[in-house]
Amino acid sequence: MLSALSAVHWLIWRDPRRRAENLLRFAEVEADGGRDLVRAAEVTRDPVLRKLFLKHALDEQRHADLFRSRGLALIRTLPRDTASGIAANWLTPGERGLDDLRVEEEGDAALLAFLHLSEASAAREFANYIAVLGADPPTRTVFENVLHDETFHMTYTRAQLDRVAPKGARRRIWMARLRRFWKAYLRLASGLAGLIGAIVLTLQYFIVLPLFAFHARRAAEKEAAGWSAVAPERNGRLDRQY
Ligand SMILES: [Fe+2]
Ligand SMILES: [Fe+2]
Repeated sequence: MLSALSAVHWLIWRDPRRRAENLLRFAEVEADGGRDLVRAAEVTRDPVLRKLFLKHALDEQRHADLFRSRGLALIRTLPRDTASGIAANWLTPGERGLDDLRVEEEGDAALLAFLHLSEASAAREFANYIAVLGADPPTRTVFENVLHDETFHMTYTRAQLDRVAPKGARRRIWMARLRRFWKAYLRLASGLAGLIGAIVLTLQYFIVLPLFAFHARRAAEKEAAGWSAVAPERNGRLDRQY
């Protein structure tokens, strides 16, 4: 028996075009996360973290390659005129990595806490997708491979956080949770603003614009056709601009 969330995931992933688009979007985000981790490896002064961040970056790049090649393979199987489905990005967020965090401005502990939550959330998401992808074994295998790495990322970031900040690990995780919550709120708010803007502009187009068109037409009907005589007081010499 599918839960409500699983049913939503099943609906989203059953459409092959949307599935391909999601995979290509995931590829971009994973590659972006990999670049952020290379930067994190450059700025950390901790040699153990540098090694782990570089391995992590290579994993994310590999995930990007896996998602991209599966997404492209799926697209090639689609008829050319297949319409694009609704992009439900917020329902299938995939992995958010460092979510546009400024790596240079963060300490190792803050980065590790943020990464830990991000990887844990990605692992949960990917497990949900695997559960509904029974009809597409190649895509399911991609997610199984990626999930294996995400679980490792989730575990090592927590272990390293306990090492670099043994006393403040829980506080760091709570702070990272609040920041993720704030970023999610900003995403939701900007999505909502876009939706409200589209509704207001549509209403203007169908309600306000016809009113102006109606009055303009009525005013045009009152105008006499052709040339009309100018009043004598306005018909002086052309010696000024107005
Ligand atoms: Fe990943
Ligand atoms: Fe990851």
